[in-house]
Amino acid sequence: MSFRSYFVSSLMLSLASFNATASSVEVLHWWTSGGEAQAAGVFKGYWQALGNEWSDSAISGGGGGSAMTVLKSRALSDSPPDAAHLKGTELREWASLGFLRNLDEIAKQEGWEHILPSFVLQSVKYDGHYVAAPIGIHRANALWINPKIFAKLNLTPPTTWTDFLQVADKIKQAGYTPLAMGNDEWQLRNLFELIVLGEGGSQFYRQSMIDLDPTALQSDTMLHILNIFHQIRPYISDNTGRLKWNQQSQLLMDGQAAMQVMGDWVKGEITGAHLIPGKDILCLPSPGTDGMFSYNVDSIAMFNTKNPTKETAQYHLVQMIMMDGFQHAFNKVKGSIPVFKNQKIDDFDACAQQSLKELTTAIQKNELVPSADGMANSGRVKQAFADILTPFFNEKNADPHTIAHQLARAVLSAKR
Ligand code: GAL
Repeated sequence: MSFRSYFVSSLMLSLASFNATASSVEVLHWWTSGGEAQAAGVFKGYWQALGNEWSDSAISGGGGGSAMTVLKSRALSDSPPDAAHLKGTELREWASLGFLRNLDEIAKQEGWEHILPSFVLQSVKYDGHYVAAPIGIHRANALWINPKIFAKLNLTPPTTWTDFLQVADKIKQAGYTPLAMGNDEWQLRNLFELIVLGEGGSQFYRQSMIDLDPTALQSDTMLHILNIFHQIRPYISDNTGRLKWNQQSQLLMDGQAAMQVMGDWVKGEITGAHLIPGKDILCLPSPGTDGMFSYNVDSIAMFNTKNPTKETAQYHLVQMIMMDGFQHAFNKVKGSIPVFKNQKIDDFDACAQQSLKELTTAIQKNELVPSADGMANSGRVKQAFADILTPFFNEKNADPHTIAHQLARAVLSAKR
């Protein structure tokens, strides 16, 4: 079935069971790159097709840093949106401050505990209560490859970070940009956590990046990881270092750059450009992470309101987010996979199928971890990582020993 006919038929079905009164919501999110905006368009389109109104608060900036700043000032001036894309620590922080609507009742009515895997349930809970509706599962540990460059240079995609450096060197010598990556805090933190996962394994990753254990942060393994991270600097382009992650994906698709290390939201850019993920651009686990799955569970939280009409609208929005047809249509465009247990995504692309397979195995083998940047770490801890890692990455003569100590100290004081 084509995407359009799927969309229309699942919509017809859902319309029949939906309350007919029109609702209006303002939704704050940061889905503004080409692929993300198309997915946000599906979200909005579905809502409007149900006869409702949508007011869009889209704040650009990968990873949502700017969106979170805007949200804070909106909340301080007592005018939060009705709903916002919030996840991980930020979601819990907003919930702990009492801003978010408790969704326990709707979760019970809709049987969330039967239809959602436990890591998804945990991701949308604070203090034992549901505070957001999960909208999709992203795999953060992905490597994207332009196969034409690899074929031309007769190279095999890297499966370890040592391999990565060797392959990157050959690509650079041939005149291409080895790694499509912007030199900004968010992209650097993303890269760093994937090197930790690939070189240290999931247990070391949990100790160092999630538990923020000072011994792990100053260990020999961490020194080795810092060394690799530092050696990557020559392989990103000086000319394009300021570009956002999605502009970097464009360089990959255009054949100027050979690889990108980034979550599978990149897939939204690929399908949005009418290329086929898994064929025109290959998707692989980031080096060393085969069999592991680092997740972002994207979710939509509802802000408390005293207006009963708004409460009803929020209720309808949560119901819609949890509809199978909606999740199918949205995640297909977004690059993620739907949040439900035992789902069928046979009509998704090969990379999504691979993602679901790897997710299932990772759950069984205890190789499932939250993305440190996307889910686990607070804003303060993320800033501490950025404050140390960004100058280190860019300073040619920096010493990894000193940096490991600085990192442990900065992260620990931010953790308190
Ligand atoms: C992540 C989010 C994704 C994607 C990405 C880039 O934090 O989970 O949905 O939007 O940021 O903006």
